Amino acid sequence: MDKKVTVVGAGNVGATAAQRLAEKDLCDVVLVDIVEGVPQGKALDLTEAAPIEKHDAHLTGTNGYEATAGSDIVIITAGIPRKPGMSRDDLISTNAGIIKDVAGKIAKLSPDAVLIIVSNPLDAMCHVAFEASGFPKERVLGMAGVLDSARFRAFIAMELNVSVENTHAFVLGGHGDTMVPLPRYSTVAGIPITELMSEDRIDALVDRTRNGGAEIVSLLKTGSAYYAPASAAVEMAESILKDKKKILPCAVYLGGEYGIENLFIGVPAKLGAKGVEDIVEIQLTDAEQTALNHSADSVRELVEILAKL
Ligand code: NAI
Ligand code: 2OP
Repeated sequence: MDKKVTVVGAGNVGATAAQRLAEKDLCDVVLVDIVEGVPQGKALDLTEAAPIEKHDAHLTGTNGYEATAGSDIVIITAGIPRKPGMSRDDLISTNAGIIKDVAGKIAKLSPDAVLIIVSNPLDAMCHVAFEASGFPKERVLGMAGVLDSARFRAFIAMELNVSVENTHAFVLGGHGDTMVPLPRYSTVAGIPITELMSEDRIDALVDRTRNGGAEIVSLLKTGSAYYAPASAAVEMAESILKDKKKILPCAVYLGGEYGIENLFIGVPAKLGAKGVEDIVEIQLTDAEQTALNHSADSVRELVEILAKL
């Protein structure tokens, strides 16, 4: 295939993302992990599924970086996930070291790639990758808003007994307890949910969305969500690979948009062949802007911790 995507971290999110990329026939996939045999085994297993799934994507598993050279996109999922009782922020020092190492190696061999960061704490890890890669801000972004919005959409569809395809939702802000679901911009068949549900029910769905990651962790007990996160990362990759110019909520580097400077945080962004091609500034009410500022403060606190590591 003429496009190549590297997925670093062949664990739950990484391997599932590799599977979705291949099964959608989007690109060849290189799966990288530090554990010997795991990326090779998963790539081979996926290759053996290809005749049944009917795709011709070429999958390679490796513990090194040579095969990643010239990637169009690199999805970074390497690191540790949270376990019950842990917050995403508890992962910061371990994952910062991993992302720094990985992003530096990737930048040398794939200098034109777009980096999609998945590892947590997400917004802070985008800063690490941005600095370690030296890439321009248009080519470093984080996956969180697509996942959080998909969760909100799933809950809206369940509540109103409508097709998920009819739903649209926007969740902005950092990927954590301070995330900012926007009911006014969340719709069913174009109708804002504020016209379809009581305030109490909207509050309940917003709350469930904010705790969506923790709800899965408490059920799985040994790790965190991966099916929906992989789908979300692949939706972003697809928009870039096919130059679709979808507007998706992503963690991007803000230089004054939304009144926020020098910070990665989730806002609507247009994703095309060049990576982040535009940041869309939607009108926020005072309460929504206050919530976004509060979320930005939480991300900033983590970025300050990074500086002390
Ligand atoms: P996992 O534990 O299943 O997989 C992580 C993989 O990374 C492991 O296979 C591990 O061997 C590998 N790894 C560790 N250090 C590495 C290195 N230096 N180079 C290459 N590979 C390395 O974890 P899972 O569930 O796949 O989650 C991965 C990360 O993504 C976690 O930090 C998790 O919190 C985060 N996450 C973020 C989401 C988001 O919305 N942004 C959603 C879901 C997960
Ligand atoms: C999630 O939201 C763990 O960040 C991950 O599921």
